Order: sequence, then structure tokens, then C-alpha cells
Amino acid sequence: MKLLELYAKMKRDIGYIEKELERSIDADHAVLRETSLHLLKAGGKRLRPVFVLLGGKFGQYDLERIKHVAVPLELIHMASLVHDDVIDDAQLRRGQLTVRSKWDNRIAMYTGDYIFAKALTIVTKLNNPAIHQIMSKAIMEMTIGEMEQIRFFYNSRQKVRDYLLRIKRKTALLIAVSCQLGAIAANAPERTARQLYSFGYYVGMAFQIRDDLLDLCGTEKEIGKPPGSDIKQGNMTLPVIYALQEDKLRPQLLKELEMIRERDGQTDVSAFLDLIRGSAGLRRAEELANRYIDKAIHALDELPDIQAKKDLTAIAHFVGNRSY
Ligand code: IPE
Ligand code: IPE
Ligand code: MG
Ligand code: MG
Repeated sequence: MKLLELYAKMKRDIGYIEKELERSIDADHAVLRETSLHLLKAGGKRLRPVFVLLGGKFGQYDLERIKHVAVPLELIHMASLVHDDVIDDAQLRRGQLTVRSKWDNRIAMYTGDYIFAKALTIVTKLNNPAIHQIMSKAIMEMTIGEMEQIRFFYNSRQKVRDYLLRIKRKTALLIAVSCQLGAIAANAPERTARQLYSFGYYVGMAFQIRDDLLDLCGTEKEIGKPPGSDIKQGNMTLPVIYALQEDKLRPQLLKELEMIRERDGQTDVSAFLDLIRGSAGLRRAEELANRYIDKAIHALDELPDIQAKKDLTAIAHFVGNRSY
């Protein structure tokens, strides 16, 4: 199923959140307004606010309250992308020029800072310190995850668990808290919020594994950026870690990696990508992503059988198979 079909039942509320997002970045400063709007208008799946809304359905759903977590969570995601594209030297994001390439790195850093701060001003409209703390912690973990990724660049001795810990931090926790905070903002029972958190965590793990698979196997049209970007920066993702475990492939892979490293990523990586595509790494990574999706769906077992539960299940399946 396509994402738009999955969103169909929530179309009005998602449309409202979209308007609020636009309103939120209507900055007092012309350049900040332009840069933020540029990114917002490039689109994106809006998964995190959708998870907030669905989480909210398990409590007393009140869009006027819940928007104060839905909007900030998308803003935090957006800010992290603007910064991430600086770190990754990325030219394209969502099929459009990144802020750093349309403007420059300095402007991208301030745009990210500005959007982060906007997120905080909105969430503090909810007088609930637990919500503020959960959100701040997620930002801190995301930053640690991105730092850890740098520490492990080109490290061919890293373990699968090193990878899993850093994607938990950089991606999965923000998705987990999106589900959780939707429920908390709607005063859902604590246990429900915890189960939604687990769901989001597992979906988030699968989400990043699929993202990493797409970087190796997707087309530029599908993923909105050229494939092979991860390895050009030295980012060794799950299929690569698995492929390095194959005795027959390891020496060749190490040779290619050394070459990419010496040229600082400014080289053709197609030989490296072909080796990975010929390994069992892709299939094994897909299998792990599928296992996370199964766990996500199980995490919903004890929740009431409302429409939101069906929607979450359908989105989990989308994440497990996504090609964009
Ligand atoms: C991209 O996230 C960054 C990752 C955490 C992998 P999304 O794939 O959710 O980005 P958009 O918002 O849809 O562009
Ligand atoms: C996304 O990470 C940024 C964060 C999770 C903070 P990636 O670098 O893996 O994602 P893309 O591929 O640029 O979207
Ligand atoms: Mg990136
Ligand atoms: Mg990155």
C-alpha cells in the first residue's frame, strides 16, 4: 500500500499539522524563513507527526493539544536533516538541493539551530515537564548516535551490535518517542504509552535498516539522492558489516574500502556496491528488518482494537517494504 492511501483517513488532521508546520517556521528573519520553507516544501513522509496522531488516538484525542508534540517532532527531524546534510556533504535531499548546497554550511547550521529552538518553544506550550524531558533526551541521543557514526567510519572490525546501538540512537528513539508522546499528550494510560514506545522503537530500527539498504540498492529517483552516499563518507551500514563476515569477500572489500578512504570518498564506488550487492548482506539485513517489523506489530498486541491500531500495523508493513 502507498503511504498516501494509509494516510487517507487522517487526511484532514495531517493537513492541519502541515499548515501548523508552515506557520511555525514563519521566521522573523528572511533567510531563515526561506531556508526552512525550502526544506518543508520539499516534502517528506511526515512519519513522525503521523505516529504522534495515531498514538493520540489511544487516549483523549484532541488535535489542539497533540499538535504541540506533532509539530515539534517533525521540526526536530527537519533540523536534524539540515545538520546531517552538512555532516554528510549531501547535495540532494527529498530530490531537492539541500540547504547547505543551495545556501552554504554556515546558513545550514543556523537553520538547524533555529528549527530546533522553534520545536522547543512549541512543545513548552504543554505544561508537562515529562514531555519536555522525553523530547530533549531524544535529541541528545540522536546527537550521540550521529557522533558514534563518525567514530566508526571505515572501521571494518565493528560488530553488528555497534551498528544497532547507533541506529537506535540516531533514528529509532525519535520514532519511539513520537508514538509515546502522542499517547502521553492525550493522557492515555502509562502502559499504553510504553507499548507504543516499543512499537516505535522496533519500527524505527527497521526504518533505518531499510534506509541503509536503499542507499546501497535504490535508484536516485526513489531515494532523492545518489546511491552509495553512505560508503563515500565511510559509513559502514548493516549489509556491509554482514558482507565483511564472508571470508571470500572480505579481502576484496577491504581493498575497495581502503581506496575509497584514500580518496576521501571522491571516487567511483560502483565496484564496492557490486560486491555488496553480490553478498548475502542484503538478504540478511532485510531479514533483520523484517524481524523488527514483526516485533513492532507484536508490541501492539494488548492495545485495544481501534482503527489506529490497524493504521499503525499498515505503516509498519510499509516501513518494512519501503522503497522511498
Ligand atoms: C530520513 O528520514 C532520515 C532517517 C532517519 C533515515 P525520513 O525518510 O523519514 O525522511 P523524510 O522526512 O521522509 O524526508
Ligand atoms: C539521518 O541519517 C539523520 C538522522 C537520523 C539524524 P542518515 O544520514 O543515515 O540519513 P539520510 O540518508 O541522509 O536521510
Ligand atoms: Mg545523511
Ligand atoms: Mg548521516
